[in-house]
Amino acid sequence: MKTLAGRVAVVTGAGRGIGRAIAEDLASRGADLALFDLQAPLEAAAGIAAAHGVRALAVAADVSEESAVQAGCARVAAELGPIGVLVNNAGIMQRESADHHTLPASDLQRMLAVHVGGAAAMCAAVLPGMRAQRFGRIVNLSSVIGLVGLQRRTAYSTAKAAIAGLTRGLALENGRHGVTVNAVAPGYVLTEVLREKMRLGTLDHALFAERSAVGRWATPQEIARVIGFLAEPASGFITAAVWAVDGGYAANGNPGEALGPLQAMEAEAG
Ligand SMILES: NC(=O)c1ccc[n+]([C@@H]2O[C@H](COP(=O)([O-])OP(=O)(O)OC[C@H]3O[C@@H](n4cnc5c(N)ncnc54)[C@H](O)[C@@H]3O)[C@@H](O)[C@H]2O)c1
Repeated sequence: MKTLAGRVAVVTGAGRGIGRAIAEDLASRGADLALFDLQAPLEAAAGIAAAHGVRALAVAADVSEESAVQAGCARVAAELGPIGVLVNNAGIMQRESADHHTLPASDLQRMLAVHVGGAAAMCAAVLPGMRAQRFGRIVNLSSVIGLVGLQRRTAYSTAKAAIAGLTRGLALENGRHGVTVNAVAPGYVLTEVLREKMRLGTLDHALFAERSAVGRWATPQEIARVIGFLAEPASGFITAAVWAVDGGYAANGNPGEALGPLQAMEAEAG
């Protein structure tokens, strides 16, 4: 069912990976799409428009730059109409895996500027329009590493934990205006970039998979469909929540061995 027909959705970091899968999912529910990325994701937008029969706009915007965020959102409203759905997905990994005290302060500042500053600026840009139409669905990407710690990834973990605070505050401020705000905290997700690393043998599937309950990484689509569900008009009673979509990773306090034999990614995820 095209439950988002007539709605306009913005997805940041939509050129590839999880963001692209989110844009696909929202389009499959009938939404018109604006795909934000550092470089305008023209090919992704064209593919989505053709596959789903929706309008799709590619917008070049660095979410850590407030003027670019404001200009991008104004363009979407002018060309597609009022924004009803926002997914703050744009993100970066920590440049270096190293102890916090050995890294320049600028590493943490950049991490916060993209993940927290970017999401906050995007929310500030779209909230007046959402409140005016008395409808809005915002989903912010956190991470399982925002729920549990990971040594030598402290800046990333800090930024993803802060997403929970942003989510709860905005949910409380805007709930009576028809706007819900949630966060999704994915576990390890096998994007095309990471899949290629596994093919080349530079990344081991068993790493992280063993700690989860399901014994494997997620597909981008498994994350996207939860976000699509939260974006639906019928999901209006769900707000201020942080959804762990992590295959049981954060729940595992087991100090020792893996939970069981690993299942093949392809066989499980289809
Ligand atoms: N892949 C995982 O295992 C995983 C797990 C948990 C959370 N996440 C989170 O999910 C989100 C997407 O991750 P992914 O694996 O698809 O990453 P990815 O690197 O494949 O894609 C991220 C996209 O964001 C864009 N981007 C980066 N900085 C930007 C900026 N300042 N402004 C606009 N766009 C920017 C990139 O160009 C890229 O297209 C991120 O927030 C990430 O932290 C990923």
